[in-house]
Amino acid sequence: MKRIGILTSGGDCQGLNASIRGVAKTLYNYYGADVQIIGIIDGYRGLIYGESKELNREDLSGILTMGGTILGTSRQPFKLMRVIDDENSVDKVAAMKENYKKLKLDCLVVLGGNGTQKTANLLSEEGLNVVSLPKTIDNDLWGTDMTFGFQSAVDIATQVIDCIHTTATSHGRVFIVEVMGHKVGWLTLYAGIAGGADVILIPEIPYDINSVIETIKKRTREGKNFSILAVAEGAISKELAALPKKKRKQAIAEIAYPSISYKIAAEIEQATGQETRVTVPGHFQRGGSPDAYDRLICTRFGVAAANLIINKDYGKMVALKGQEIVAVPLSEIAGKLKDVPVDSPVVQAAKDLGISFGE
Ligand code: F6P
Repeated sequence: MKRIGILTSGGDCQGLNASIRGVAKTLYNYYGADVQIIGIIDGYRGLIYGESKELNREDLSGILTMGGTILGTSRQPFKLMRVIDDENSVDKVAAMKENYKKLKLDCLVVLGGNGTQKTANLLSEEGLNVVSLPKTIDNDLWGTDMTFGFQSAVDIATQVIDCIHTTATSHGRVFIVEVMGHKVGWLTLYAGIAGGADVILIPEIPYDINSVIETIKKRTREGKNFSILAVAEGAISKELAALPKKKRKQAIAEIAYPSISYKIAAEIEQATGQETRVTVPGHFQRGGSPDAYDRLICTRFGVAAANLIINKDYGKMVALKGQEIVAVPLSEIAGKLKDVPVDSPVVQAAKDLGISFGE
């Protein structure tokens, strides 16, 4: 009997259940009654503190379109993995290895983003058989062209910008749609272009507020009574970006607004006299059913992960390269961030179209 553990870790997103299903169905097809899937509850927390449940075929059926995760998830920061949990006197890494053994697992399947993959690599280095899938609406995982969850989130953020367009034109207002992404701007870039934003601000391209204001004024001069800005949570001004890391962090923490978008809105309103509003879709972007693209990619990732298990090819993350599904060693991707290259053809296309990045 093969025993395969599976967990979902970090922020949730669309497609987690579709991926779990992809792994499980493929294993059932191959091993028949000789495989048992063990769901680890709430991500690495369940592996540390020994919470799991045996899943049967019914648990794994009918979940293709379901949002969230049937296993639950939690954030367990990588930097604390080697720190003893004093409250419970638990050595987390030792506990995970112990519980893997207790559960008699042949392999652990991990679905997660950057921090999750770092811990997956750590467990692999500690001798556990690990296979992982790339999850996050941020699309910032190194080693894969695409993470699942991203396209569904792009769809939602785009719909938000679409809806904001109608109200912005009716009122002749400036609107900022704040899109998720503290470290990278993939989601803002894609949704901004798809939604027809006039200005896109992302962490990778620090902005000059005067340039943003000038774009809006120019639109007004050209007879456009409204403007739409797609702004990433982590958008940063040129002045702040120029500060050394520690000072920059402190300056960001001291910003006297709920988020950067509200500061930008106040600056625009003051300089242009035009009413400026902020819309923050927030976690809405991570909720609901995966779109068709994500259902397909999750299924392909799930099948590929199951095939790695069948071939005993551990210590790898399944990934998309061009149109192909490949497997990349966890040691190659752990700790690396895939941000938007400033010279990316997508950024260039947006610029050619006249979209301002506030440079
Ligand atoms: O990493 C996914 C993500 O949704 C980011 O885009 C966002 O900045 C962050 O998680 C929000 O984290 P939390 O769900 O813990 O508030």
